Amino acid sequence: MKEALDHLVEKLDGLAPTAALVLGSGLGGLVDQVEGARRIPYAELPGFPRSGVSGHAGEVVAGRFAGTPVLMLSGRAHYYEHGNAAAMRPALEVLAGIGISHLILTNAAGSVDSEMGPGSVMMITDHINFSGSNPLIGEPSDRRFVGLTEAYDAGLRKAIETAAKETGTALHQGVYMWFSGPCFETPAEIRMARVMGANAVGMSTVPEVILARFLGLKVAACSVITNLAAGMTGAELSHQETKDMAPVGGARLATILRRVFEEGLPES
Ligand code: HPA
Repeated sequence: MKEALDHLVEKLDGLAPTAALVLGSGLGGLVDQVEGARRIPYAELPGFPRSGVSGHAGEVVAGRFAGTPVLMLSGRAHYYEHGNAAAMRPALEVLAGIGISHLILTNAAGSVDSEMGPGSVMMITDHINFSGSNPLIGEPSDRRFVGLTEAYDAGLRKAIETAAKETGTALHQGVYMWFSGPCFETPAEIRMARVMGANAVGMSTVPEVILARFLGLKVAACSVITNLAAGMTGAELSHQETKDMAPVGGARLATILRRVFEEGLPES
């Protein structure tokens, strides 16, 4: 962790970001909006993930986004790659170590709600961990008993909601249910998810939220909806569809996030 931290600090060259974004499918292009970008491949940062998922690069991009110093993490590790729910822990520890206080996570997700179709953006208000795993398993200290009553920061959520309104961008809000993946869900699982109160389903983000709360970071998360979930249209789902559709909602989410950073992040 110290080696990665020192290397990142050196590369930041005096830049002191307090906010970081994790870019999921469809959001990768956001790094092109970073002014004065310094790019640090994950390979140079011990402990950062070696993501093997197509459509996910692996680098930290540091610079200014809409005037605000920021770190963007392009590429994440997923639980389904190696069965390690804590795969993002070293990276998130480094972020906390350099003074990041606000973390905004993005992902691609399937919608359980036929009114929220492909291309929609959903801000996550709460989650259901349906994976059977947890990134804090094995953590020996009592700090592992993290409260998740307010996992998604009220101030950040308000800022995202306001930014959506101001930019005239439709924004849904709802509950994200974490399935381990990598296969997609069955229609029966999607019916179950709906009954249980989920609005979207996906294979990432929740472990990062848990780790970030463990590390004391304020968190917000948004999904770009790439498809109606299994059994809702009759068509089979595919990773290609996720990759093809993610940029549609991704462009909308980028508009919202840019406005959030123009306004400056809330202190709350
Ligand atoms: N299910 C799980 N993860 C996903 C989906 C889905 O339908 N779409 C994009 N990521």
